[in-house]
Amino acid sequence: MELIRWNSVDPVAHRKQIRERYDELRKAGLKINMARGLPSPEQLDLVDELLAMPGRTDYLAADRTDCRNYGNPQGLAELRGLFSGMLGIAPNQVVIGENSSLSLMHECVTYALLKGVGDSSPPWVKTADAAFLCPVPGYDRHFAICQELGIRMIPVPMLDDGPDMDQVESLAGKDPAVKGIWCVPKYSNPTGIVYADRVVERFAAMNTAAADFRIFWDNAYAVHDLTEDPPQLANIVDACLRHGHADRPFVFASTSKITFAGAGIAVFASSEGNVAWFMKRRQYRTIGPDKVNQLRHIRLFRDEAGLRALMAHHRAILAPKFTKVHEVFEALLGGSGVAKWTQPKGGYFISLDVPDGCARRVVELARQLGITLTPAGAPFPFGQDPRDRNIRIAPTFISVEDLAKAAEAVAVCTLVAVDESVSKERCL
Ligand SMILES: Cc1ncc(COP(=O)(O)O)c(C=O)c1O
Repeated sequence: MELIRWNSVDPVAHRKQIRERYDELRKAGLKINMARGLPSPEQLDLVDELLAMPGRTDYLAADRTDCRNYGNPQGLAELRGLFSGMLGIAPNQVVIGENSSLSLMHECVTYALLKGVGDSSPPWVKTADAAFLCPVPGYDRHFAICQELGIRMIPVPMLDDGPDMDQVESLAGKDPAVKGIWCVPKYSNPTGIVYADRVVERFAAMNTAAADFRIFWDNAYAVHDLTEDPPQLANIVDACLRHGHADRPFVFASTSKITFAGAGIAVFASSEGNVAWFMKRRQYRTIGPDKVNQLRHIRLFRDEAGLRALMAHHRAILAPKFTKVHEVFEALLGGSGVAKWTQPKGGYFISLDVPDGCARRVVELARQLGITLTPAGAPFPFGQDPRDRNIRIAPTFISVEDLAKAAEAVAVCTLVAVDESVSKERCL
């Protein structure tokens, strides 16, 4: 790859060079989709034996439960034990759901709206302007749940160690209509940051004006490390219990990016009281989860060590992809001051910040080159990035070769967009 670097010394030559490269890329007829964080086919191949499991004669769980039949609404004990180890939450406080943690989150919000949380909280719909705090940039589908169900969204800036806790404490502490917050505490989507211990502690300790405030702790990337020495996330359930707020956190996780996305296992975990509440509510929704899939998964993992060994294979596939994007960005944008991007130690995304007012333009320029990116603004409530500067990069699905091309295209589009905006300013 010939390097086209930001060149502020000779802007005319710089403009010519980046335009020429942009035109070359257009002629290359690229067609690469990086819009969403999907596992790659190689990752799915790691567990394709699932397709033949558990096998015709293997349908009894360790406790002799016949997995072909209804029953066992909280899920197989052996699988709850495995997730208990992974999340650091007691097995009786773990519920195995169906295939999607997002649907468990949707379910919890819906129950909260219609029935309230716990035994004594009124339905949240009775609070006319019920609101969630939304750390931004964040996960678009969390915000979409609020939008769909009519919950007000209050953006809170994401810092390097978690959400801005001064703002969280102030907003949740004063306003009883603030009922919850969305959190992706480990390898946050899309910035990749991990909440610091002191942030977790403040979440557990803080005073909330709403007694029925809930933290939606979406630990989607709990074991999705890109390094051999991963950062550790403090245990929110333990911390909340210690501070006398045992019912505050709702923890979610899934194997969507461990086994098959959309055909994995989802988990809800919380205090004993919240688990009782959740099971009481969902008894009207389902007679029992898919235990054959649960059995399949326990046969595959065997135990927590087996799950972690599988994640090492994921890491071997994914780490070079994240490295490639960083190398290309560094080569083309490094030191330019026009863009900054995160270098996560895990998870599925890189967050790229371009100059204010340029993100939509970069995404559009990339589209014209045949590169599909997540729409600019998606990681913000209503898809509106007030500074129009954030772009979510999803490097997991495509090959390293395609990533090199796509990352170069994104960098060149960034240089073109910045150059356009600088020339516009000059014309004014
Ligand atoms: C933060 C986060 N939570 C939840 C999900 C969806 O998980 P599931 O497939 O278990 O619904 C994703 C998927 O990208 C995600 O990034």
